[in-house]
Amino acid sequence: MTQTMTNHAGELKDKIASKTALVGIVGLGYVGLPLADALHVGGMRVLGFDVDQKKIEFLERGENYLKHLGAGMTTRLSESDKFEATVDFARLNEPDIILVCVPTPVGPHLEPDLTYVIKTAEAIGNRLRAGQLVVLESTTYPGTTRGDFIPAMLEAAEKSGRGTFEVGKDVFVAFSPEREDPGRKSHTTTTIPKLVGGVDELSTELACDVYRHGVTEVVPVSSADVAEAAKILENVFRAINIAMVNELKVVFDAMGIDVWEVIKAASTKPFGFMPFYPGPGLGGHCIPIDPFYLTWKAREHGRVTRFIELAGEINRGMPEWVVEKTAEALNDDTKSVKGSNIIVVGLAYKPNVDDTRETPAAEIIELLAERGANVSYHDPLVPTFPEMRNYSFSMDSVPLDEPTLTNADCVLIVTDHDVTDWQAIGRHAGLVVDTRNAMSKVPGGVRARIVKA
Ligand SMILES: NC(=O)c1ccc[n+]([C@@H]2O[C@H](COP(=O)([O-])OP(=O)(O)OC[C@H]3O[C@@H](n4cnc5c(N)ncnc54)[C@H](O)[C@@H]3O)[C@@H](O)[C@H]2O)c1
Repeated sequence: MTQTMTNHAGELKDKIASKTALVGIVGLGYVGLPLADALHVGGMRVLGFDVDQKKIEFLERGENYLKHLGAGMTTRLSESDKFEATVDFARLNEPDIILVCVPTPVGPHLEPDLTYVIKTAEAIGNRLRAGQLVVLESTTYPGTTRGDFIPAMLEAAEKSGRGTFEVGKDVFVAFSPEREDPGRKSHTTTTIPKLVGGVDELSTELACDVYRHGVTEVVPVSSADVAEAAKILENVFRAINIAMVNELKVVFDAMGIDVWEVIKAASTKPFGFMPFYPGPGLGGHCIPIDPFYLTWKAREHGRVTRFIELAGEINRGMPEWVVEKTAEALNDDTKSVKGSNIIVVGLAYKPNVDDTRETPAAEIIELLAERGANVSYHDPLVPTFPEMRNYSFSMDSVPLDEPTLTNADCVLIVTDHDVTDWQAIGRHAGLVVDTRNAMSKVPGGVRARIVKA
């Protein structure tokens, strides 16, 4: 290490080592809440911040608003004298370390919307004190921590009279991407290796020290830019590979070949192949959005991200294709979409979570309703259709009982939660359009005609 240890860095390092440092976490959502728990379990004191008063009240009662994480987590936090949550951002001077996990959405033209990140940087700046370490976790384009976050924070500090601070000497800043995959039981915040890139060596070292208290493997990289770029690479990799299998699905479908069987066959190759699966379109806060942060930034450098644009185009076309396949399937039963009773199974964007952000189910429901279908949905994890940015339906989840299923002209599977009663669908439905190959798991005796889409 070439950078000299400063007094502030030395003091913070000791506090982290002795677990007397207070960790602030801004944004207690899908990323921030499990991170708070992991560090708390690791023995750190945690002060959570969120703008949403309801979340704070849930936490005080020990209830989990993110069901997939389980009530045990929030009971543990609420009963601990080492955890507290607040909406009072004036308390941002209290933590020694501040981890920022706020949303990074895109605007109407797929442009990055850094509003939440910048607001948080300013809120931290307004209360900044020497000896604090700030780590941005929100997914964003390379250069955000250095070029957007730090300037906003330091400017706010100066304007609010907190003074001027030198990064790497008085305060420390890093980027550490979150790799959370809600609903995936095989990996947790604790077991997923954590990349850490500081804007200087001391910041990297201090941030690594903090995460080692809650994460099994911490991987330092040479800069915040590299850490930001690595996260974007991971998400672009997924978006492109999903688009590729979605395109192959459409091609193989026209040839009468089952893409699911093809993927299973190709997966027997023990090297050089990794299976990705087709679906009804992308959803969630990451894959449909993050790659476009890079696209936008690349333009500033006179570069074009053709792979990302093409993948986006293919993936965005999936809901339309699924609706077309549904129309064809109904046509084969001498029915029209107009007037047909269609049950969409699964509203969440992926299995075993109640997250409906950017879910393709919403667009599919809208397209079917526009064509005159009587659409209902079943999702045990999402009992009521939530208010969404672009969609608003007044609907509640219908049960998957015999009368509902036999009365349906088509059951359209969009998301395959483990708890869904697939046997009931197989027994009572007439026509099933399956975008997830979910019906292949139903053992024998399927009465329904299955159309893969
Ligand atoms: N959800 C995932 O699976 C996932 C995975 C990896 C990375 N990420 C990234 O992590 C970041 C956070 O995503 P998330 O899924 O946790 O989002 P989320 O919406 O679940 O949580 C964000 C939280 O921040 C709060 N918030 C909003 N504005 C705030 C502000 N100004 N100050 C304080 N709190 C504020 C919200 O109330 C919410 O509780 C995003 O950049 C996302 O791309 C998400």
